[in-house]
Amino acid sequence: MSIEEKVIDESIQGQATMVENKSGSGKKLYLESYGCQMNFSDSEIIASILSENGYATTRNVDEADVILMNTCSIRENAEQRVRNKLSQHNKRKKQNPGLVIGILGCMAERLKKDLLEQEKLVDLVAGPDAYRDLPNLISDVGGGQKAVNVLLSREETYADISPVRLDKGGVTAFISIMRGCDNMCSFCVVPFTRGRERSRDPESIVQEAKDLFERGYREVTLLGQNVDSYRWNITKKGEIIDPEKEVVNFAMLLEKVALVNPLLRVRFSTSHPKDMTDDVLITMAKHRNICDYIHLPVQSGNNEVLKRMNRGYSVEWYKDRLDAIRRIIPEAFISTDIITGFCGETEEQHQDTMELMKYAKYEFAYMFFYSERPKTLAERKFEDDIPEDIKKRRLNEVQELQVELSFDAHKRTIGKVCEVLIEGLSKRSEDFLVGRNSQNLTVILPRENHKPGDYVNVLIEDCTSATATGVVVND
Ligand code: 5AD
Ligand code: SF4
Repeated sequence: MSIEEKVIDESIQGQATMVENKSGSGKKLYLESYGCQMNFSDSEIIASILSENGYATTRNVDEADVILMNTCSIRENAEQRVRNKLSQHNKRKKQNPGLVIGILGCMAERLKKDLLEQEKLVDLVAGPDAYRDLPNLISDVGGGQKAVNVLLSREETYADISPVRLDKGGVTAFISIMRGCDNMCSFCVVPFTRGRERSRDPESIVQEAKDLFERGYREVTLLGQNVDSYRWNITKKGEIIDPEKEVVNFAMLLEKVALVNPLLRVRFSTSHPKDMTDDVLITMAKHRNICDYIHLPVQSGNNEVLKRMNRGYSVEWYKDRLDAIRRIIPEAFISTDIITGFCGETEEQHQDTMELMKYAKYEFAYMFFYSERPKTLAERKFEDDIPEDIKKRRLNEVQELQVELSFDAHKRTIGKVCEVLIEGLSKRSEDFLVGRNSQNLTVILPRENHKPGDYVNVLIEDCTSATATGVVVND
């Protein structure tokens, strides 16, 4: 697995003004999301299913009839944050006894009935493949029952559901292209919470991209735990399922989406180093609107550790993939995920990770210290033997190194002109706008007469380790 986790402290909190209830029942849903982009994308499916059933979303938790928390299990602290929030929500039941509180997503799948029976924190538990059942589950709770559906499916992709876009900007959107994960990385809980890997019908993906473009969206991110293993109409063993129909792999899907319109940018996440082919890179180089950015999680720079992590590649293989990216798309920015203090990691092995970071010159990284997760291969096979202070010290070291690497990469953009897609107002000042260039670098620019959804050419004048600033030229 590896979808970058985007921890969002604020909840999505629905958007009552944007999501109208279709049957006029007037029920209000407060939907809160945690975890990775895939989870945020799932929340848009959940909002769609419930809006069809008469629920409007609200940002005001006090007026909610139903509170749903779409949760993450990837590290212990992700779960802890949800528990704290759940007990706050539970206090609202005193004033509003009819309030339904439900837990969805990875924590729901992992903890199942425990949340209802032992912890008594919720009325409803629904796993990632059970969202179509939410209207029934909510009505079961209304009838005085506790409701659970944590069945995982081999087929569910929600392909026919048109997600309600919860992101306010209206410029960028996620499209989920597959679900689940068949890689058994030893540290990872995802195969247990999201089930087996399955790909979504390419036609429905392309159609969703077309609809988004027509509605003014200018960027889509294709999401999957391991996009390189996307496959349609062919089994893992290479047997064609329906000879009358087209076989589609990830490179082909990427091309189909890129062809929707040259003004629609295409991104994707996450690539797996063991499966990323040159084909994908060549497709990226061929289409200007496929962004020059790859998220390629390495996790560790040492072969023994990679083996214990069951990642399925060596440092040498990973470097070959890095070299291929730099050769085929020289302008590309590369980001990664790193875990420090995995079971048995020595100081030397930690140093190897830092060496690999320097070799890769990552422009960006998501870094974590190892958190043991119940049921995973690592929990069963290895001792979680690195003390927390050492895990954290190593994490600090990789973070410090990454700040330097990011700053170096951003400095190299000064004096260059790049195309920026404007996404909205800068958080710091209404006189400035924020957008990203193809390489995923965040760029701040003066507002002037530009607006979200515009493409502008920006001369980069200054930068930090996190963002760049510049001015619009010759537009
Ligand atoms: N502990 C720490 N980090 C983890 N990740 C996944 N599982 C764990 C864990 N048990 C990180 C990996 C992955 C990212 C999404 O989260 O780096 O790529
Ligand atoms: Fe996403 Fe679930 Fe993994 Fe969290 S545990 S990062 S929500 S797939």
